[in-house]
Amino acid sequence: MNVLKSIHFYFKFIYLFLIGRIIGKEEYKEEYNEVSKTYLRWTERMKKYTDEILRIELLEKENKVNVLDFACGTGYIAKCLLSNLDDPDLSLTAVDISDEMIEIAQSEINDSRCSFVLQDGMSFLENETAEKYDTIYCGFALPYFNRRKIVKQFTRILKRNGTVHLILNCRGTLEGISKIYFNLMKSDPSLIDKIMEIGFSLPKSEKSLNAWFAKYRFDTISLKTVNEWVMFDTPNELYDWLKQTGAIAGTGKIFSENKEIEDAVIDKIEESLVYDRQYRINHKFILAVLRKSPQS
Ligand SMILES: C[S@@+](CC[C@H](N)C(=O)[O-])C[C@H]1O[C@@H](n2cnc3c(N)ncnc32)[C@H](O)[C@@H]1O
Repeated sequence: MNVLKSIHFYFKFIYLFLIGRIIGKEEYKEEYNEVSKTYLRWTERMKKYTDEILRIELLEKENKVNVLDFACGTGYIAKCLLSNLDDPDLSLTAVDISDEMIEIAQSEINDSRCSFVLQDGMSFLENETAEKYDTIYCGFALPYFNRRKIVKQFTRILKRNGTVHLILNCRGTLEGISKIYFNLMKSDPSLIDKIMEIGFSLPKSEKSLNAWFAKYRFDTISLKTVNEWVMFDTPNELYDWLKQTGAIAGTGKIFSENKEIEDAVIDKIEESLVYDRQYRINHKFILAVLRKSPQS
């Protein structure tokens, strides 16, 4: 029986892949629209790490004035930059695909130095002028894009000596929850409607992320990996956190019967993510600041 289910699962997976039923930008847009009102739970928890990649002193010292906040979400990075930099020549462009995320950013940022663009990030990059930006920030969004295309576009639109500031999840993050979704997909393949490939876009390690950029002659300014546990008293609280922060954005589109699946996920959290009477999940991510070579 299990063998038959596994075969069914792999066939279904390949079939959905071949016909292109893959969770993509429209689905992420919908899911981020849904979490926009609760996304603050994410920024509140993650700001101490995001702050590490801001490196305001680099922008000041090197007079970097053309800045891009790529996939800006509710604008945490843009807001920090604008409130810490008083240079009137600063020009910050904040781009995102989700109208509801960007609306929140717009309502919180009232600064004529900032302009917002509601657009798919890749289309935005492809239409940008070469060597326009001094600095690009991308907070928790790089894996939503094709890795090769995004690194190439970042390189193209960045000036020589320009810097890229990244914080992003890496392989091995949310390990327990990925297993839960994988097992649920395997246990009833007929319920799978679309497949998710974001897991394949995550860098394996800081070394691999570094290599993606080293190929385009970037040097490393700083690089580090964090793996931390997020703990809750109940399985529902853990699930709500994952859902409301966008940490599992996209998963809401995998199955055709989503309500039943949500209950099943919570049951599995209760069974498998319990530790010392708490429910916990790991969150693993990389912080990187890289510089484009003056010769490239
Ligand atoms: C985890 S949030 C990060 C938001 C913000 N950078 C931060 O650090 O808080 C991911 C963001 O990526 C955006 N996003 C996902 N796919 C996108 C795409 N194709 N183009 C532009 N933005 C996209 C989502 O709408 C969401 O706002």
